[in-house]
Amino acid sequence: MQYGFFDDKNREYVITTPKTPLPWINYLGNKDFFSLVSNTCGGYSFYKDAKLLRLTRYRYNNVPYDNNGKYFYIKDGETVWNPGWQPVKTELDSYECRHGIGYSKFTSVKNDVKASVLTFVPMSDTCEISHVELTNNSSSEKKLQLFSYVEWCLWNADDDMKNFQRNLSTGEVEIVDSTIFHKTEYRERRNHYAIYSVNTKVDAVDTSRDAFLGAYNGPDHPDAVFAGKLTNSVASGWSPIAAHQIDITLAPGETKTFNFILGYVENPEDQKWESHGIINKKPANEMLARYQSDADVDKAFAELSAYWDNLLSIYHVKSSNEKVDRMVNIWNQYQCMVTFNMSRSASYYESGIGRGMGFRDSCQDLLGFVHLIPDRARERIIDIASTQFQDGSAYHQYQPLTKKGNSDIGSGFNDDPLWLIAGTSAYIRETGDMSILDETVPFDNDMSVATPLMNHLKRSFDYIVNHKGPHDLPLIGRADWNDCLNLNCFSAHPGESFQTFGPSEGPVAESVFIAGMFVKYGEEYAQLCELKGDSAEAERARAEVKKMYDAVCTAGWDGEWFVRAYDAHSNKVGSHECKEGQIYIEPQGFCVLAGIGVKEGLAEKALKSVKERLDTKYGVMILQPAYTEYHLELGEVSSYPPGYKENAGIFCHNNPWVSIAETVLGHGDRAFEIYKKTCPAYVEEISDIHCTEPYVYSQMVAGRDAKFFGQGKNSWLTGTAAWTFVNISQYILGIYPTHKGLSVDPCVPAGFGDFELVRKYRGATYNISVKTNGAQKGIQKLIVNGNEINGTVIPYDPSVKEYTVEAIMG
Ligand code: BGC
Repeated sequence: MQYGFFDDKNREYVITTPKTPLPWINYLGNKDFFSLVSNTCGGYSFYKDAKLLRLTRYRYNNVPYDNNGKYFYIKDGETVWNPGWQPVKTELDSYECRHGIGYSKFTSVKNDVKASVLTFVPMSDTCEISHVELTNNSSSEKKLQLFSYVEWCLWNADDDMKNFQRNLSTGEVEIVDSTIFHKTEYRERRNHYAIYSVNTKVDAVDTSRDAFLGAYNGPDHPDAVFAGKLTNSVASGWSPIAAHQIDITLAPGETKTFNFILGYVENPEDQKWESHGIINKKPANEMLARYQSDADVDKAFAELSAYWDNLLSIYHVKSSNEKVDRMVNIWNQYQCMVTFNMSRSASYYESGIGRGMGFRDSCQDLLGFVHLIPDRARERIIDIASTQFQDGSAYHQYQPLTKKGNSDIGSGFNDDPLWLIAGTSAYIRETGDMSILDETVPFDNDMSVATPLMNHLKRSFDYIVNHKGPHDLPLIGRADWNDCLNLNCFSAHPGESFQTFGPSEGPVAESVFIAGMFVKYGEEYAQLCELKGDSAEAERARAEVKKMYDAVCTAGWDGEWFVRAYDAHSNKVGSHECKEGQIYIEPQGFCVLAGIGVKEGLAEKALKSVKERLDTKYGVMILQPAYTEYHLELGEVSSYPPGYKENAGIFCHNNPWVSIAETVLGHGDRAFEIYKKTCPAYVEEISDIHCTEPYVYSQMVAGRDAKFFGQGKNSWLTGTAAWTFVNISQYILGIYPTHKGLSVDPCVPAGFGDFELVRKYRGATYNISVKTNGAQKGIQKLIVNGNEINGTVIPYDPSVKEYTVEAIMG
């Protein structure tokens, strides 16, 4: 069952009923100001950091779900309704929500009144614009009232939901004409305030929540709205809000428009006040002046569209597979950009107060957006590397605002260092910008111990070399990519964090997954050494990689698949010797994509075992058989009921690893089959089972053992976005950036058909056409600007700006 449809021409998903199985959300904002908006107008806004600078309040874990947002109420006689259906939930005569790229548009009709709300964050201001249009489609005059409503968050979202003894006494506002200024804590250490304004004269406002809603009411029944009269309340403590009332008369056929602006404003420390206790409103008024007319809004919206037109022209495919095209050209890249902005901080499943930016997460996210915004990727690499420790290990997370490592979680996740090599290598392969390796980058943000980035990569590499266990495999530490495989934790009491309890460096527990990573990114490190002219270091690196390769093929091989790990007692994890958890997906995918065991025939066997033991119709499960009881020696992985999350869920992030691994072996049919299983556009028809948005990836789909097999969870902020984009764009469609230039080497299913691709790369445009000839892999001929070349790599030539490339497979 579907709840909407894709409109590819407009790059939108059109939701045709507000009653989706879960809120289906979108993200607004590109740089500093962000909003989450659901298909019923729920959500919240923040400036830079969802925890520390949250503008509007949202209640996670609330009942009913998703009932706070930025709402408009329309009162038409006795009927009160909302264009997004929530929160009053008056049945609408028609409803539509179009989630687009950086904007959402709601269009609804009730009793011959049509309301549309276009909401977006302009490119160059720290605000959200909601352009509201009301049209009277009846044959008689209508007297309507339009009300707005947002509830302010008292900035620090964590404190806002805990520290009531203080917070209920701090709320302050100012009101000038149609603008409400939220200035809680401005009197002391803040130099910022928020505004909510509309470009017309208002009939009344409210800024006290109690006055607006009435005690014991929720936003579903604001007394003041139902009475048709806001009270001009001035909040003092308690819960400040912003609500406007506009009385409107609409002749038959007439339309009126309104621009609502919700903004964040900062003043220099010495210019905070206009007069005693009165905030300096100059920058707010200047911002508002930029969005007074409809033409101003149109212009800002056109800028946003142009920005995305440009980004989405960098990689564009035209094939006979509509779903592939829409995911590649629109939604997958869009989701990658959202993960760039949010990492794992704010979604409907990440509360915005928890994890901030992840070291490994952000490095992997980069693989999916580096081609879109290389300059910002460069900045991001430096930020991430600045949180590394001198021994090569790294803070597992850092705060977006301060960019400082988060000491609550600390370090000890032993895959982290290698992801820095992955991200940096991807950046250089994309841009050719070797100068990044000479950037002086601190350790733990301490400039007194700064060193060139290249030296950071060396320390990443050596961290693994210097931390091996009894089988010559890398020590796992607190966990590797699988945050829930906590082999040194031994937590027996509720409430202890699986990630931080126990010693951070176990003496023996080892990870075959990190070994696979080391083989892949160790080689990429060696290539960088060579490019830097350090062939001795490249040789040393390759010798270490070879040792690791051999260790994986011996101690890491279980007979039919790769072992997952060795626990703290040196027992195998992910082996036929185990009762449960006999096979894990991660080493099968990653070792094979790293090329391990290809020539020895192990790779074939491992992927065959994945198919036999882990595959389902909704994707490949992370492990089997599921753990049915808690294992002290394994940690969080065994804490989930079977089929959920890391305990035998379909963890979408590592499905592309297996798909990429299949392309390494030339299995286009199987690679694409795996791609399709978790691809949102391909599961749109089962949205009632899948539940999460059909336009973005979710972190997890419940596995075969779960009660709700096939149900998605934790949509949007997942490394799945980057890895599936890498998979489809670089391996299946086969346009892979190397240090020497673009490689064209697709691996597609036999019936995929011919396709065309535009790829902008290092300042040139490549117009590529691929004739597949029914082949799954293999380039028979590559003709570049009329000349046939050897191999699959188009040598990079800075003097050529246009390439016409014909690739003939077979
Ligand atoms: C984390 C990732 C981790 C994955 C698997 C996600 O929630 O953000 O860093 O690799 O879970 O455990």
